[in-house]
Amino acid sequence: MHKYKIAIIGLGTVGLSVVQILNKHKNLIAQRSGVEIEIGKVVVRNKKKYECHNLPLSESLQEVLEDKSISLVVELIGGVDYPFEIAKKVFAHKKAFVTANKAMIASKMQELCKLSKGLPFGFEASVCGGIPIIEAFRDSLVGNEILDFSGIMNGTSNFILTQMEEKNQSFSMALSQAQELGYAEADPTLDIQGGDAGHKLLILAKLAYGIEAKEEDVLIEGIEEIELDDIAMAKRLGYKIKLLGIARKEDEFVELRVHPALVPYDCMLSSVGGAKNALSVRGDGVGEMFYCGLGAGGDATASAVISDIVNIARLRECASYPFPAFGSFDFYKHFKLKDRGEIACQFYIKIEVLHQSGVMAKLTSTLAENGVSISQLLQEDKTQSAIIVILTHRCEERKLNEAFCKLLSFDFVLGNPRKIRVYE
Ligand code: NDP
Ligand code: HSE
Repeated sequence: MHKYKIAIIGLGTVGLSVVQILNKHKNLIAQRSGVEIEIGKVVVRNKKKYECHNLPLSESLQEVLEDKSISLVVELIGGVDYPFEIAKKVFAHKKAFVTANKAMIASKMQELCKLSKGLPFGFEASVCGGIPIIEAFRDSLVGNEILDFSGIMNGTSNFILTQMEEKNQSFSMALSQAQELGYAEADPTLDIQGGDAGHKLLILAKLAYGIEAKEEDVLIEGIEEIELDDIAMAKRLGYKIKLLGIARKEDEFVELRVHPALVPYDCMLSSVGGAKNALSVRGDGVGEMFYCGLGAGGDATASAVISDIVNIARLRECASYPFPAFGSFDFYKHFKLKDRGEIACQFYIKIEVLHQSGVMAKLTSTLAENGVSISQLLQEDKTQSAIIVILTHRCEERKLNEAFCKLLSFDFVLGNPRKIRVYE
């Protein structure tokens, strides 16, 4: 049996799961893949803290780099700059590199492409946790032009929205629970402000279209402003609220966006709850595919990390690594990002207004003057004010923003009108 020695940097939620599964399924993996994976070193910052795990611990990355018997290094610490330094050193020492770190990949994609040339580089766990979506984009769907893909790419946000919807739990309680369960990033603002889903969208957009968009050029909004109220109103209208990542190709333009969206009950994405992720992908040959599974958590993510380790260990047996990590996309260089204001969809609008006669007439005429047409309208009375919820017909976001500016000038409008896009 061929033995393949690896090192793991970081023994947190994912690192510990990788170690445990590699031990638990050592024989199973060997029998199914023909390679025996051996953990040569585990690099931690403080050996004392991790002594109880009975592992070959080290506090020195250099020791791993210099150990010629170690063929592959797995980075599972998170962050951007230090993990990128690790990647550089690993490739410089001609070792394979595996990571679950989408923040680093999304911001250093070009550099990693150059550094990894000819060396195995696995990042299956970086997008949608346990779902083998990188393999799907890179290999299984390679015979298709990807027309569009959209879905739930952040387990923490989906868990929070599900807890709010099903258990009437507050946002902050649901977030604490997601943190306890190991779903959230070390900095959970990445989860709830949409940045993490944005990183994943950028990685998939690079694999699908070769487009190297920067985070700041993409529309990214999170779920922090979603209230229990919105979830209840959406339900009355026949929708669930989900944080979605959406990519659509139209001629030479690619539309990329991450934001909460009202998803109709009859759309499969609406039934994906908890920490699950799901992606609907349309290829020009295969048609629509739907991928669904756990998108966060130690074991689900470790499942993807281990698939990279074993795939690379197998390839090493064949002596060469055949393809560039993100593909070679010269042909697609002409793709441009679509301007945010041009994005058109239906909108859910929530406005709080004072009880006054004529308010509804002014509200609806202001929307009409800006080309925003109303599909449905709900009103919920409070003592002094009323919450008006409107579902618009499809319109350009720019027009709705103009209407909002005018609405703000009316003294019967309380606070800022809010909008949530509707998924079509
Ligand atoms: P954790 O915060 O649970 O673990 C990170 C670990 O890295 C900690 O145990 C920390 O140990 C260790 N660490 C930090 N700096 C160093 C260092 N310089 N040298 C050695 N060890 C270090 O994070 P996760 O396991 O959740 O996430 C790891 C990576 O996987 C991240 O990139 C994350 O985005 C990604 N990921 C996570 C998923 C999840 O569901 N959790 C899913 C998909 C990807 P200590 O503080 O004790 O020193
Ligand atoms: N924090 C991430 C999430 C982990 O909740 O989806 C998986 O990438």
